[in-house]
Amino acid sequence: MMIISIANQKGGCGKTTTAANLGALLAQKHKVLLVDVDPQGNLTTHFGINKADQKHTIYDVMLNGRIEEAIIRKDGVDIVPSTIDLAGAEVELSGKIGREYILDNELKRIARKYDYVIIDTPPSLGIFTINSLVASDYVLIPVQAEFFALEGLTQLMRVVELVNSRLSRNLKLLGMLITMFNSRTRSSKEILEDVRKHYSKSLLKTVIPRNVTVTDSTMAGSPVVRYRKTAPASKSYVALAKEIERMLKVK
Ligand SMILES: Nc1ncnc2c1ncn2[C@@H]1O[C@H](COP(=O)(O)OP(=O)(O)OP(=O)(O)O)[C@@H](O)[C@H]1O
Ligand SMILES: [Mg+2]
Repeated sequence: MMIISIANQKGGCGKTTTAANLGALLAQKHKVLLVDVDPQGNLTTHFGINKADQKHTIYDVMLNGRIEEAIIRKDGVDIVPSTIDLAGAEVELSGKIGREYILDNELKRIARKYDYVIIDTPPSLGIFTINSLVASDYVLIPVQAEFFALEGLTQLMRVVELVNSRLSRNLKLLGMLITMFNSRTRSSKEILEDVRKHYSKSLLKTVIPRNVTVTDSTMAGSPVVRYRKTAPASKSYVALAKEIERMLKVK
């Protein structure tokens, strides 16, 4: 069983899109649990789940545990949904001893049932992202092929180190994933070169292209790999899933 966090405190870099598509693809062969730990609840929406119907969500899990009760089955994946209520949990948890380990403890109990657990995190380095990193074996970092994309990566890598040193975990970097790459713009190519230069060993081979079908699929409440298999982004996500499966088998 592998637990993978998709993290980057930079907003809109493709975390949720990557979590949804990777989850949908891995679920074709494996048992997959998706965990939405973002108050925005975008991953929940990606699977067409109606947030208003959810009685037990990640909010309840963070405050009262019992993750089993929060899992819903949707189109072949298990998912722990999130709603805006989660935003309030940050304050409710402040000062609680051991609050960094809540998700870790919850997932430990049930993770044996799954081959992969994929966690989508919010665009911040707050308590929910820390909970996700602490619970994970690997972190996957999407990097949008745009200017300023590299800002904050040093800080993120420092947080990964802190999780390992201060919270005594063994969190490994699965890799950095270039997303929304546009081969026609100079900025996209420059970002790819920059990441190659600074993080050569960590850069994943697969690059996700900018593709308008991704937006259409999100609006339709379905990951693009299900919405249109032949879309360029779908093909790249298939390549990514294979690359990750290969990497994790070797390690
Ligand atoms: N490959 C792509 N091509 C075109 N649009 C994309 C692509 N990937 C993601 N998008 C769009 O970019 C926006 C941001 O993507 P996404 O929600 O996955 O980012 P995020 O990192 O999860 O954002 P946040 O930090 O707010 O959680 C969405 O509208 C999504 O549909
Ligand atoms: Mg998101």
